[in-house]
Order: sequence, then C-alpha cells, then structure tokens
Amino acid sequence: MINAVERKIEQYIVDLDDSYVKRLYRKIPKGKRLRTKLILKIAGSSLKVIKTAATVEMIHAASLLHDDVIDDAYQRRGKASVNASDGNKTAIMMGDILYSKAFFELNTISPEVAKVISNAVVQLSLGELADVELSRKFHTNRDAYLKMLYQKTASLMEASAESAAILVGKNRQAYKQYGRNLGLAFQMIDDILDITQESKTLGKPALHDFEEGKVTLPYIYLFESLAQEDREFLLSLHRKRLSQDEAEWIKSAMKKYNIIEKAYSEAKELVDKAIELMDSLGEKDLSNIAKAMIEREF
Ligand code: FPP
Ligand code: MG
Repeated sequence: MINAVERKIEQYIVDLDDSYVKRLYRKIPKGKRLRTKLILKIAGSSLKVIKTAATVEMIHAASLLHDDVIDDAYQRRGKASVNASDGNKTAIMMGDILYSKAFFELNTISPEVAKVISNAVVQLSLGELADVELSRKFHTNRDAYLKMLYQKTASLMEASAESAAILVGKNRQAYKQYGRNLGLAFQMIDDILDITQESKTLGKPALHDFEEGKVTLPYIYLFESLAQEDREFLLSLHRKRLSQDEAEWIKSAMKKYNIIEKAYSEAKELVDKAIELMDSLGEKDLSNIAKAMIEREF
C-alpha cells in the first residue's frame, strides 16, 4: 500500500504541470516513509488514508528541503541535496511548492485532520527556529533541547498517528501518545547515530551535529560528566570543523562515561512505553515498528 501513497504523491506532482518540478521531485530520495507506515498500519488504505499519508510525506520532504538549506547540508540519504545540486533558491521554492500543494490537498480530507496536521507544521517550524537558536552557543539546557526535539520531529509523527486514528474512529489520544514517543525516540536515536556511525552508513557526514553547533543529549551528558579541564576542551570544539584526533577524543570520552548507553536507554524507555501501549490495544504491527526503530543503524 506504500505504492498507492507514492502514486498519489506523483499524481499531485503531475497536477502541478511543471516539468522542472517533476525533475526536481525525482531527485528527492524517498526515505524510510516511517510516517506513511504508521498511518497505514493504524488506518488501513482508504482514499482518505492514502491522501493523508501523501500530504504528510510531502510536508516532511518540504521540511527537509528547507532544513538542508538552513543547515548548509550537501548530502541527504547518500545523495546530493537539492540545495547542493540546484542551489538554495530552488530548494526553498521546491519546499514551498510541496508544502502548499500538500496543504491544498489536506483540505479535501477532513477539517479535523487538516487542523491536527497544520498545527504540527506550526510546531515543526517553531522547532526548527529553536534548533537554530540553541545551536548558536553551547548549552546544557536539557528541557529546552527536549522541547525543540518534540516540536521539530515528534510533532509530525504524533499528528500522523492521531490523524490516522481520527480517520477510522480509534482512540486518538492513545495513538497520539504512541506517535509522540516514537518521534522523540527517533530523533534521540538520530542524534546518537551521528556519533556512533560512519558517514557511509548514515548517507550524510558523521559527527556533524556538534560541528553545526547542535548540542544534542549525548553532548549535554558528556559535558556534565567531564572534569573542568576536559569541559573546556569540549567547549573549544563546539561549532568547529573537527580534526581526526578531536573526533576520536569525543568518541572515546563518550565511551569512557557510558554516554551513548545513557542516551540510548532514555530513547528506549520512550519506545518501551509506546510498545506497551500498542500491545495493550492489540496493535502488534505498531509495536514492531517501534522495536525496529530503536534498533535501526541509519
Ligand atoms: C531535520 O532535523 C529537520 C526537521 C525534522 C524539521 C525541519 C522543519 C523546518 C525546516 C520547518 C519547515 C516548514 C514548512 C512550512 C515545511 P536535523 O537537521 O536534526 O536532521 P538531519 O540530520 O536529518 O538534517
Ligand atoms: Mg539537518
């Protein structure tokens, strides 16, 4: 049924009647389609469900087009990002086109679903703004970081699960909670993989968050564990291009203080709650999505 969602997105692109947009769309890698998987598992495959998944994926793709401009990122899922291949202006406009078309189509689904998803896009945008602000200087504000994480990533997964529940009359609060936990854990794992994985596996540069200024949870916990002199050294690396030695220093300090385990167990706790919730509702497939998410390597 994922194919039906891909076809629906393609149909929306064809509707735009613009050959450059068609070519640009082909350049965007499809990704994991995690939000689509959630929506289809929760709500089946009626036309409204397919349309909801298609609009969510278009919004997600639009947000990543903008994010790569904001982050000066030249790789996305192992390929050149659109800002790298066609420039910032094109990437921004392509994002605007995908977003506006998705929004136009969203209005044909249901007012309630449109409300839930449009509110998530407000959160998404607030989250990205907070991410930029939090990246300007080193901080140890875990609460601000978690709020940003919720807004930037969890809000759209939460809205996807809630919308799907609305469409088939399931308990929207339960599925909303599931989507929220999954989204939070997803981004926590993303932050961990940036430290533990190689670029080749990630499809984007590794150990890049700190260079970009992003003080993710492992860095907050590492700073808290370090002695004064090492804290100063860590601070000196913030927002800098790291040498091989500096990168190794960060990785071995993370190891020494079991930082990755600490951050991972926090993500796992959220996923375990999501699994428990879905098990109680007899939603085995949704529990399995959560399990696979915590075990992913990219
Ligand atoms: C990736 O974070 C970014 C997001 C999940 C959200 C970005 C949201 C916006 C740019 C607002 C979009 C607004 C509209 C109207 C579409 P990341 O940089 O931590 O992850 P990455 O490593 O995958 O780039
Ligand atoms: Mg980014």
